[in-house]
Amino acid sequence: MKRLLLASLLPLVCAQPLVTGLQNGFQPAWWKEAVVYQVYPRSFQDSNGDGIGDLNGITSRLDYLAKLGVNVIWLSPHYDSPNADNGYDIRDYRKVMKEFGTMEDFDRMLAGIKARHMRLIIDLVVNHTSDEHRWFVESRSSKTNPYRDYYIWRDGHPPNNYPSYFSGSAWQLDPTTGQSYLHLFAVKQPDLNWDNPKVRQEVFSMMRFWLDKGVDGFRMDVIPLISKAPGLPNLTPEQLKDPSRVWANGPHRDEYLQQMNREVLSKYDSMTVGEAIGITVDETTNIVNSARHELNMIFNFDAVRLNRGADYTGRPWMLADLKAIYAKHARVLSKTDWDTVFLANHDNPRLVSNFGDDSSPEMRVRSAKLLQTMLLTLRGTVFLYQGDELGMTNYPFTRLDQFDDIEVKNLYATGKIAEARLVKEAARFGRDNSRTPIQWSADANAGFTSANAKPWLAVNPNYKEINAAAQTADPNSVLSHTQKAIALRHEHPAFVYGDYQDLDPAHKQVFAYTRILGGEKFLVVLNVSRQPVDYKLPASLKTREALLTNAALSETGAATLHLGAWDARVYRY
Ligand code: GLC
Ligand code: CA
Repeated sequence: MKRLLLASLLPLVCAQPLVTGLQNGFQPAWWKEAVVYQVYPRSFQDSNGDGIGDLNGITSRLDYLAKLGVNVIWLSPHYDSPNADNGYDIRDYRKVMKEFGTMEDFDRMLAGIKARHMRLIIDLVVNHTSDEHRWFVESRSSKTNPYRDYYIWRDGHPPNNYPSYFSGSAWQLDPTTGQSYLHLFAVKQPDLNWDNPKVRQEVFSMMRFWLDKGVDGFRMDVIPLISKAPGLPNLTPEQLKDPSRVWANGPHRDEYLQQMNREVLSKYDSMTVGEAIGITVDETTNIVNSARHELNMIFNFDAVRLNRGADYTGRPWMLADLKAIYAKHARVLSKTDWDTVFLANHDNPRLVSNFGDDSSPEMRVRSAKLLQTMLLTLRGTVFLYQGDELGMTNYPFTRLDQFDDIEVKNLYATGKIAEARLVKEAARFGRDNSRTPIQWSADANAGFTSANAKPWLAVNPNYKEINAAAQTADPNSVLSHTQKAIALRHEHPAFVYGDYQDLDPAHKQVFAYTRILGGEKFLVVLNVSRQPVDYKLPASLKTREALLTNAALSETGAATLHLGAWDARVYRY
């Protein structure tokens, strides 16, 4: 009896945020204070020597994550799937992918997470299912099947000019009934018909299933795409330049999210973050404002895609562009909205290769530390991607057959782009860069899987130099630095709730900003370049204490800072 009572009280106690009462006008919440760590299960840790990461592998590494200091884990899809898109094509929402383990393994992992006072959010992929999902198998069998209307079927091939994100038309003609179905992603990812109330109830009931198990919320895959344009008219040539803009702004998007909130989310102490493809920063509040009862926060792609054009082409950018993005977020989102901050995930290149400098070991380490310092002192709930805490880099791809990703393969199949160019561009921006196995040690296969196994995707050959074992033992490693930066954020609510002020929006090298909450004042100074630079602080700003730095100098109290290559410093002032 006594034990029962204690057990039922415990989650309530842990659900409290660190601070109480309005903070700078913000309502405190645990998910606002969270540092989230994304686990891509296929690549995290293999426990049984088949070369594929799995849930028992994750469980075996929970102490590592707890020590790092992250407090929420976002698990990329762990559901039963034929893996046309590495689990983002779900065959059974209530079953664990065979390669990843069993439901018992999931429960054990979840218990291990809770025992370490961390939380778990899982990926909710409900814009589409796998074509092997039972609903779709039924749906495609005849025009009168009760599941026909779970998906989007039309006459004609193609019924309109929608392109797929993974190349080609977004329509697939199905010979059984002579109609085509919509798939905004791969042919094996048919879009669900959210206008059918039965579909919504199926999704809601599945969400309750996982919440009742004790998961703490969801990262919602391409969630703004759930409401389709009535009549599915052709996109105009202008709209074809960025179809996500149309697809993300369907007429019932907010209504469906509000229904989901009312019927499911509001009944639990959960956290939600939507992948907001097609939503601008100005529109963000339409989804995340707390008075609207939709989602807690979304991922905008303005920062992470700053250097990208279409497909895998690069786009020139300057530091001022990045600063302008963060300034805009601070301006546009109000006290009843909440933001995210991230610069990497399983769909983007490695953090240090993309925004830092991986051209030499010294620059790699320095710039990786700078980027972690930046992410962990900016506004919004922080999302870190696995391996970036080690400064893992892009993979040295030289051949097409080294890629696994359906995005690369489908683009190649269009014949639009010559092989040599595709290899070069996908090596820079392709999604497989961030999906190579985690480099745990200098042992064979980087300790990801057993020595004689073949990892599902090749281990980056630089694992002897970049690995967790070596960095755990080194107080000056990227890992140790990231750990300190996380601890710093947890210690000072100013980094969560404080005001953000960019001191020098036009400076081409230095990113300097303050975070202020009441009497707590912090200054972050980053030299986002390999060129040393002297930086004069505003006359009124006198630093009192250096709290975190990747540099030899701390120069506390100095009027001019002598910043070395990729110097990152956090001061109290
Ligand atoms: C999201 C996922 C991506 C996946 C796509 C289709 O963008 O992050 O990995 O391919 O949705 O589910
Ligand atoms: Ca395995």
